[in-house]
Amino acid sequence: MEVKILDLARQYELIQDEVEKAVCEQMKSGMYIGGKAVADFEQEFAKYIGVKHAISVNSGTDSLVIALKALGIKPGDEVITTPFTFFATAETIAMVGAVPVFVDVKEDTYNIDPDKIEEKITDKTKAILPVHIFGQPADMEQISQIAKKHGLVVIEDACQAVGAAISGKKAGSFADAGCFSFFPTKNLGAFGDAGMITTNDDSVATICRAFKEHGMAQNGAKARYILEGVEDELEGTASPDALYNPYKYYNYLIAYNSRMDAIQARVLGIKLKHLNEFNAKRAAIAAFYNEAFSGCSGITTPIVKEGYTPVWHQYAFRCTQKDEMGNFLASKGVGSAAFYPVPLHLQKAFTYLGYKEGDLPVAEMLTKQTVCLPIFPELTKEELMYVTENVKAFFAG
Ligand SMILES: Cc1ncc(COP(=O)(O)O)c(C=O)c1O
Repeated sequence: MEVKILDLARQYELIQDEVEKAVCEQMKSGMYIGGKAVADFEQEFAKYIGVKHAISVNSGTDSLVIALKALGIKPGDEVITTPFTFFATAETIAMVGAVPVFVDVKEDTYNIDPDKIEEKITDKTKAILPVHIFGQPADMEQISQIAKKHGLVVIEDACQAVGAAISGKKAGSFADAGCFSFFPTKNLGAFGDAGMITTNDDSVATICRAFKEHGMAQNGAKARYILEGVEDELEGTASPDALYNPYKYYNYLIAYNSRMDAIQARVLGIKLKHLNEFNAKRAAIAAFYNEAFSGCSGITTPIVKEGYTPVWHQYAFRCTQKDEMGNFLASKGVGSAAFYPVPLHLQKAFTYLGYKEGDLPVAEMLTKQTVCLPIFPELTKEELMYVTENVKAFFAG
């Protein structure tokens, strides 16, 4: 038997009719970027997360860059984040000219350790950027309290956590902004790159809308007013529906091009309707694995905090023979992955920050021990049994 780490084609089969109809309709409409399909999906997503605004962008990476800029993070500012995450989390901090400051993680949840945040706060610290790693929310209550005490903004990297929640409140609704990725392998995945920013703040939403589209038109003018206090000399002279719209090629800020394709919005809108069901299937698989490994002394299974609802983007257990386990599973046809093999403070690209091995021991230990197993909603019972049998066989052998 072969069990892949992820098989996206199976999910496609389930929603094929709906998707093909919607995509064909969109292609015939002649509207390919932005427009009604994207606006509709933004509204549905905002409602699902429970926030006032959802601003679509081209990727999770762009969502982070634009949110950081919109929240006023400037060159030289320090942003506290986790080293146990995908590179983009800290890369985007560096892209806006700020300095990533890494705080070690907790060994049970793999998320940033809030008890270690305050010792890293300096007079240059402007923001905390927690990640809901593998789909389990970071401790947003404690992080928000620390941020409030020190006057810092908070940006949630919810790229792996669409639908995750703490006491029923969704990831992406706790902070000044939430950032999402719809990269195809995510629990809500597009058929290409796409992302979203969520916020309850009207000004942040306007600035994000301006930044995602060349700082132009009314949003650009409004964002310039919010950011620089400069009045819009065109105000009142144009209607967005007018044939001649003097706003259209007026640019007010140096910004980005980061728009969502209409086809991606249609696909995502369809998948969003199935998301709770998909997430529930992931949770059932995680429960199956936890149960199967409960008596297995070589394995430390992931911990879920009381009141927390993860979406299981990954199921990652700890095992001191990580490489041997991965090779053994591969020899049996079982796909596994090693997220993440290098903690960000030791990534070559961040050498200039001056971290060394031993600085963040928990994250370093996790990168040597975490093994991720297949956890997509369409896995069959037989496949799951085959996976668990082989994980156990590794220790028996
Ligand atoms: C935690 C995290 N942050 C940021 C990103 C970047 O998202 P994208 O690949 O859509 O740019 C990802 C996804 O790969 C991620 O997992």
